[in-house]
Amino acid sequence: MTEHVLTERHGAVMTIRLNRPEKKNALTRDMYRGMAAGLHAAAAEDAVHVVLLAGGADFTAGNDIGDFAKAGERDPKDPGAAFDFLEAILAFQKPVVAAVRGNAVGIGTTMLLHCDVVVASETARLMMPFTRLALCPEAGSSLLMPARVGPAIANWWLLASAGFSGADAAAAGLATRAVADDEVEATAAQMAATLAALPPGSVQESKRLIRAPHLDAVKAAMAAERVSFGERLRSPEAQAAFAGFLKKAG
Ligand code: COA
Repeated sequence: MTEHVLTERHGAVMTIRLNRPEKKNALTRDMYRGMAAGLHAAAAEDAVHVVLLAGGADFTAGNDIGDFAKAGERDPKDPGAAFDFLEAILAFQKPVVAAVRGNAVGIGTTMLLHCDVVVASETARLMMPFTRLALCPEAGSSLLMPARVGPAIANWWLLASAGFSGADAAAAGLATRAVADDEVEATAAQMAATLAALPPGSVQESKRLIRAPHLDAVKAAMAAERVSFGERLRSPEAQAAFAGFLKKAG
């Protein structure tokens, strides 16, 4: 579908790898579709027990800002490919392990809330610059981030667009483990293999039970965010922020 998302199989683990290094894996609409397609394929294949979500030197610099800038050209009722991906990861019943190195910006941070295990480089740079871009939280992060790390930290990260490290993410409980940068891939692969070796029905039922008490609330938060995010995207202050980034990027 796109050369910017690669899938590969190692035993019962399917890796979905973002592969647009020259743009720090900034996510285009095709890439969201590619990630959703990878999840659908993994769901349909009984021999796949676990998905490993990875980038390379960078996890992802978030939504492609050039794409954000074009929001006004699209049908306001078009939820956008990002939401297709978010729906796919929310519906995905097998465990997802994330391997996070380098930049993990915007949805690069918030998608981690939908992963079951997060291995971060101690030096990874995470940030949800929604207010800096005149946007608002997405991916259920308005609900899930305070629930995960507590409101005191989530408020600072979400309201001030404050960046933090992979080590901070692990200390706050967003990441399962922070390791040296050159150990991220091997640690994530090993944790994925551990999960993949367990009885898949039991692991999936356990994941279902863990998420069940909050699922309706997460869906409601995502629906509310989607309306606000769509409005914010088209606002003059957000369009000015995108133009500022694109001008700097030249
Ligand atoms: N959308 C589009 N292009 C992006 C991008 C994004 N989200 N993030 C990075 N890029 C591009 C840059 O424009 C640059 O392209 P160029 O080489 O053609 O000029 C290339 O990727 C490398 O990025 P650069 O900014 O030079 O790298 P850096 O190491 O100095 O900074 C970031 C890395 C992630 C801090 C910086 O690129 C950034 O702030 N990106 C935007 C992140 C963002 O706000 N995402 C949306 C969240 S809602």
